Amino acid sequence: MSDNSLMSILKARTKADHDRLESLVFFKELIRRSLPLDSYIRYLRLLSIIHWSLEKELSLCADERVKKIWHPKRARYNLLINDLDYYSDYLIKDVLDAVNLTQDFCSLIRRHSSKGALYLLGYFYVFEGSTRGSVKLREILKENFNKGKDFSGISYFVNYGDKVNEYWDEFVEQMNALKLDEGETEKVCLSAIDCFQRLYQIIECLDGNKERKHLYTVIALNPMAGNHPVPQDEKELKVSIDVAYKCLKDFPYLMMRYGTSGRHFTLSDSAWLTYLTEFSQEIINTQVNWLLNVLTTRGVPSILLEIHLDYLFQELTREKPEKREDYNKLNITRDLIQNQRVAILNDETVKTIQQEFKEKITSQEGDKLPEAIPLLASAMCDEFRGIEGALSSLKSWLYDAKIFSQDWIKAILEAEQKLKQIALSKK
Ligand code: HEM
Repeated sequence: MSDNSLMSILKARTKADHDRLESLVFFKELIRRSLPLDSYIRYLRLLSIIHWSLEKELSLCADERVKKIWHPKRARYNLLINDLDYYSDYLIKDVLDAVNLTQDFCSLIRRHSSKGALYLLGYFYVFEGSTRGSVKLREILKENFNKGKDFSGISYFVNYGDKVNEYWDEFVEQMNALKLDEGETEKVCLSAIDCFQRLYQIIECLDGNKERKHLYTVIALNPMAGNHPVPQDEKELKVSIDVAYKCLKDFPYLMMRYGTSGRHFTLSDSAWLTYLTEFSQEIINTQVNWLLNVLTTRGVPSILLEIHLDYLFQELTREKPEKREDYNKLNITRDLIQNQRVAILNDETVKTIQQEFKEKITSQEGDKLPEAIPLLASAMCDEFRGIEGALSSLKSWLYDAKIFSQDWIKAILEAEQKLKQIALSKK
């Protein structure tokens, strides 16, 4: 590497900040094998929201220079999610300052999306480079945060396996081939320095020896959810998580269609709905209605929200009967949504059509998505009550020939026509 190559300049310009970062109590404790598990989990959560934002912007960026550098094989967000899943039983609070600083950093990353390709490259250099330091930390991480034979819980740090040097050499070559002028090189350097300094501030907050405000945050449930509040009562938060898993189990659609992000949004929405019970009925109605519009136009019919609200009411009341009145507000909102739906297509009608549908398809395919007809009926009601796009966003998936057989698609079409006829007759 010649001395005036981009990567040589980057290394020299960021050395002091790298060394300063390495000297943080967090890393000292990690190396001494005394880093508390809570701090380690908090670190993974913060990294997950940064990687989510950065990898999203890098993959969407149309700038030719970014296209030459970014490749999905370098994505590490999913590894962080796997590691966090390994620790999903730990209901721990986050450090408020660290979360706020990380959210600020993520907003900056998003602001750089269209015109800030060179800034994105500076940030990416820092995270790609961290794979080199991780090699030195692997054994320690394995000893402390993974007792098993695989790499669950620490996979973010062992990605690229024994190919770290190979991946790094390729990255160095691609970065140096960009041939940036002085001003452009400066932009990449400054953003890399800025990234190191922000990470310093963020990770400093994880030093358990200092007094900090801790609270439950949404990032633990869904790194993509932004910054909305969640209940601070441990029991309520736990119920909201259990209910989210119950919905996911009862409605395979959410995972089949949306995968991990379906799980994450079900969890964060559940916590948010629970949090709302502190407010007036009017506020709850307005907020749930807002959520209903967002969900239905993205292909999640309102019947799922209805059932989610019902489960929440039941389970929260069971856990904390003294707050029944507060939780009942969810029930009242649910009734409003349900009444609008059954006024267009009642449950009996839907059941009959569901039975006819079942007889036309194989039991294997029927078992795959037992809620298909109730979902279709609900999406139709949502459309009929004025939510434009509610039906088409479900149908784009329900009629997908890559997922379903021709027999299924034919049977769905027949069911849809029948439902439509009945719904129209109610208008
Ligand atoms: C205890 C923590 C850390 C240790 C022990 C460590 C160690 C190392 C080592 C040994 C290298 C290779 C240096 C070389 O071959 O010249 C390296 C490179 C690098 N590390 Fe770290 N590191 C740590 C934390 C981090 C963190 C948290 C980040 C950023 C998220 C980071 C970013 C980088 C970058 C960007 C490089 C590449 C430098 C270059 O060659 O251009 N490191 N680190």
